[in-house]
Amino acid sequence: MEEGFTKHPDQPWRVLEFYSGIGGMRYSLTKAGVNAEIVEAFDINDKANDVYEYNFGHRPYQGNIQSLTAADLDSYGAHAWLLSPPCQPYTRQGLQKQSNDPRAFSFLNILELIQDTSQPPTMLFVENVVGFETSDTHSKMLEILVNAGFVTQEFILTPLQFGVPYSRPRYFCLAKRKPLSFQRPLFDNQLLQSPSPLFGHADEVMLCQLDETQESLDKLLQSCEPIERFLEFKNPSQQPESSFMDTTSASMDVFGALEIDGEGGAHDISSLEQYSVPLNLIERWGSAMDIVYPDSHRCCCFTKSYYRYVKGTGSLLATVLPKKRGKTSSLKEQGLRYFTPREVANLHSFPEGFHFPQHISLRQRYALLGNSLSIAVVAPLLQYLFAELS
Ligand SMILES: C[S@@+](CC[C@H](N)C(=O)[O-])C[C@H]1O[C@@H](n2cnc3c(N)ncnc32)[C@H](O)[C@@H]1O
Repeated sequence: MEEGFTKHPDQPWRVLEFYSGIGGMRYSLTKAGVNAEIVEAFDINDKANDVYEYNFGHRPYQGNIQSLTAADLDSYGAHAWLLSPPCQPYTRQGLQKQSNDPRAFSFLNILELIQDTSQPPTMLFVENVVGFETSDTHSKMLEILVNAGFVTQEFILTPLQFGVPYSRPRYFCLAKRKPLSFQRPLFDNQLLQSPSPLFGHADEVMLCQLDETQESLDKLLQSCEPIERFLEFKNPSQQPESSFMDTTSASMDVFGALEIDGEGGAHDISSLEQYSVPLNLIERWGSAMDIVYPDSHRCCCFTKSYYRYVKGTGSLLATVLPKKRGKTSSLKEQGLRYFTPREVANLHSFPEGFHFPQHISLRQRYALLGNSLSIAVVAPLLQYLFAELS
């Protein structure tokens, strides 16, 4: 392993985007205003790559990241690696097999290659679910990074801390290889739950901690915009005439899964009808649903199973205000609907210019968005990582 690439201050950083999905990292880099170019993106999923290519005009390398060699990596001459590896090894649903889960192999594999490269990266950025920070993959990652001469700063942050009414806490690791250093070295080797260092308020770090008290949560929510600002269909007059889907075409299994005419049945994404929550799902799963209103200041994390399952996969929107909120008995009158993919993209702070190619089905859109990330959170983190000391 050698020193790495030197860079003239006016030259753009050369960046590799691993597990690129629909390009959340790339959008975040642009939003951060970092002078950088993505020299290559990598993803195994052809649908994700279709979306990426549609928006950026470049098709990512479509293959298994695990098959990359140190020589392959050297050939890109990259200064920085951005990585958002699969999160299932660290989630409860994913059985928490951690580094023994085959889906974790490619990530550790690529980190281990750092020591074999002749020109290793000088900066790294890793995104994952909360739970990753206590996994053995995390311990191995830190060991590899420390041995390769990196210093790290870690964060757990949610869009709620950035004014977005969306709860999606995620783990982030920022790493810089010596002699590079962070603007605020005070936080080296720490795991922070506050965004204050990103905005230069190092001394206020305690003020925005993501703690569990009702008072601090209330304060945080008050600083968030109402959900209404993120909706593409804002008022009830924009709702379909009949708020409820004909449940004869919808079936449900014991886990609350919604099947709509098989895989491709929901292709016409312009019709609002298909976003209505079927009555039979409300009857069966109403008490487990997270219901929000246009004036709410918070909604729950959308997962890749949103629209397929109603329990724990993301919030549903009540379009008719009830006299008494939260009563299961009145849910049927509240005009419940799913957030549209555009609305999920808005809550992920994707730019207006982001679009899906037409052949991507509704379910695939939700799955790809559920796998992606919050640009409102990642952009300031990248800005902080790439900031050069003057
Ligand atoms: C958590 S998602 C990352 C999403 C991305 N950050 C975005 O903004 O859409 C993980 C991605 O890694 C891809 N992936 C998982 N294992 C892979 C592997 N071994 N090689 C290449 N891509 C892989 C998946 O297809 C998925 O798109």
